Amino acid sequence: MKTLIVYYSMYGHVHKMAEAVAEGAKSVPNTEVAARRVPETLSQEILSKMGAIEAQKAMERVPVCTVDELATADAIIFGTPTRFGNMCGQMKQFLDATGGLWAKGALVGKVGSVFTSSATQHGGQESTILSFMITLLHHGLVLVGLPYSFQGQMRNDEITGGSPYGASTIAGTNGERSPTENELEAARFQGRHVAAIASKLAR
Ligand SMILES: Cc1cc2nc3c(=O)[nH]c(=O)nc-3n(C[C@H](O)[C@H](O)[C@H](O)COP(=O)(O)O)c2cc1C
Repeated sequence: MKTLIVYYSMYGHVHKMAEAVAEGAKSVPNTEVAARRVPETLSQEILSKMGAIEAQKAMERVPVCTVDELATADAIIFGTPTRFGNMCGQMKQFLDATGGLWAKGALVGKVGSVFTSSATQHGGQESTILSFMITLLHHGLVLVGLPYSFQGQMRNDEITGGSPYGASTIAGTNGERSPTENELEAARFQGRHVAAIASKLAR
């Protein structure tokens, strides 16, 4: 049973959420978990202008995903920052290279799930996850979200990400906010939930 976490993170928020997703998935017996970044498409010069160099260094140790690796997993959990309410270009470019897998039906029947991060509370977390799922449906993945059995998404006593569509965090307009314990718990729940469903399907 292999769960692959495939993500892009510019400033580290999605990266922190990915670590929590991995923790959750690892807690399911007989589950192998691997985290991968999608390839960068921006030059060092642009990344520098965007103030992303330090954060990128902290993620260097995470191996870069290849398209063929997707076919080796039983479940794939994707993470992307919001870009105008959609997935980021790096992730889109990676997925646009999966035509060969699509032609072979290589991802049909695998479990798919998505988590995200946005700068603002209503800046497009739900639209990012839902629009991402269109691509996953074209590939024939079985979609899994974040059910309300994760009760942390019901709370109103603090600002929090997380919806039935998937875990999320609010990064702040200058990236100054870190994922809260509730948001990380949502990510752990999602990882655990996806891996458990993939195990049941494998049986
Ligand atoms: C080109 C661009 C578009 C963005 N669009 C949105 C947006 O529509 N809504 C929003 O809340 N944040 C938006 N953001 C902010 C990012 O979502 C935010 O930096 C990201 O969630 C932080 O995650 P990371 O640290 O993993 O990169 C945008 C950022 C960039 C660079």
